[in-house]
Amino acid sequence: MEAVSQEFFSYNFSTAALHCAGMQTRQLNSQTPLKYVVAPMEGLTTFPSRLWLHMTSAPKYMTTPFIKVTKNYPDKNIPDEYAPELTVLKGALPYEIIPQLITGEPDNFLRAADLIFPHVTDTVEINCGCPCPTSAGKLAGSGILGDSQLFFKSLERYVSHLGSGHLAVKMRSGFTSNEEFDHLFNGIKDMPFARLTVHARTRKAGYKGLADWTLIHAASRKTKTPLYGSGDVTSLFSLDERLGTAHNLGGIMIGRGAMINPWLFSEIESGQKVEVPPRTLANALLCYALIHELWQTDMKKLFARITQGRLGFHCGTDPAKWEKSAQILLQTAGGIPAVFTKSGMITDIPVGGNALARLKTLWGYLRTQLGTEYLRPNIMKSGDINRFFTDFFAATV
Ligand SMILES: Cc1cc2nc3c(=O)[nH]c(=O)nc-3n(C[C@H](O)[C@H](O)[C@H](O)COP(=O)(O)O)c2cc1C
Repeated sequence: MEAVSQEFFSYNFSTAALHCAGMQTRQLNSQTPLKYVVAPMEGLTTFPSRLWLHMTSAPKYMTTPFIKVTKNYPDKNIPDEYAPELTVLKGALPYEIIPQLITGEPDNFLRAADLIFPHVTDTVEINCGCPCPTSAGKLAGSGILGDSQLFFKSLERYVSHLGSGHLAVKMRSGFTSNEEFDHLFNGIKDMPFARLTVHARTRKAGYKGLADWTLIHAASRKTKTPLYGSGDVTSLFSLDERLGTAHNLGGIMIGRGAMINPWLFSEIESGQKVEVPPRTLANALLCYALIHELWQTDMKKLFARITQGRLGFHCGTDPAKWEKSAQILLQTAGGIPAVFTKSGMITDIPVGGNALARLKTLWGYLRTQLGTEYLRPNIMKSGDINRFFTDFFAATV
């Protein structure tokens, strides 16, 4: 471990800590407690990130990003790279997870659902929201919203196949306009879904503008299905705003907010802003990169550490738990067990280009909640992980 000077770490904790606009969460306006769910995000909430989010703020519910099912794929069970929590790691991690499938072919959906329902999972989600042309062009994802009769018939068929309370649906508010929502929603509001999540933007809107939570509110008053709202919850403050607009919800799905503030689920639980000192954040980020590295190079070793109980425990903001996790991960990845301490940087972290790219993607979201010193472009441009952390710590001075 290389020594660095003590004053390297003499930064101002309050400016460097993660901040979440500090309002107490409003008391929820439904009878049963809201469920806060990690949203499906392709490339973002894959298993390594879900594991890390569990270590960070222990959300109780998660969803896989979509699994594109075809006539032949998957050919058996759900592949480990999508949802090991349901297979090789069953019972090892405490959160509930629902797998999400995407296809424009109802037969494909039913075939894939039969591979996993009910012995692997008791709920399967259908994606009716993906805006990308490769899906939408084939009536998959948001594409199906452009043909309301097909939308109704497909969901009816899925519900009657799986039975009451086993199909989850995630949809956008329309294909081209929010005005389509009423019609689309009225056609499905009495179907007995496990949950219906509305991301209140149209396919046309993509991710631009704010989601329209007044639509979510209007829908929640017309259905007995647990209705989940999705869109633009990134802090206690924005959660409070959305809950002020939409009442009687079953839950809230949080997507990019979980990347912007990975401790958000703890904040929601406690109603308090969480502050994370830079050194703890550095060790947490190191864990994020190493989990991704192992995921790519030796998934089985990663699974083994989890089943042995040596990795994947909730660390929260506890520096010692992050340090322990970082050491185990470094050792497992073939490095020397080390952590960022008051007096040391780590050299030779065994992290390659792919895992570094994942770390940078997270960093691109996360840094927006940190002080302006963290917006320096050099951190983002670092060519290797040692440089990334050198620049990270330089920003804290
Ligand atoms: C990079 C990215 C990937 C996404 N992938 C999926 C997906 O696989 N399935 C899905 O239903 N929604 C997906 N979404 C949509 C999110 O689940 C969520 O509904 C949307 O981002 C709005 O919520 P947010 O503002 O909390 O992020 C994705 C969003 C993003 C930004």
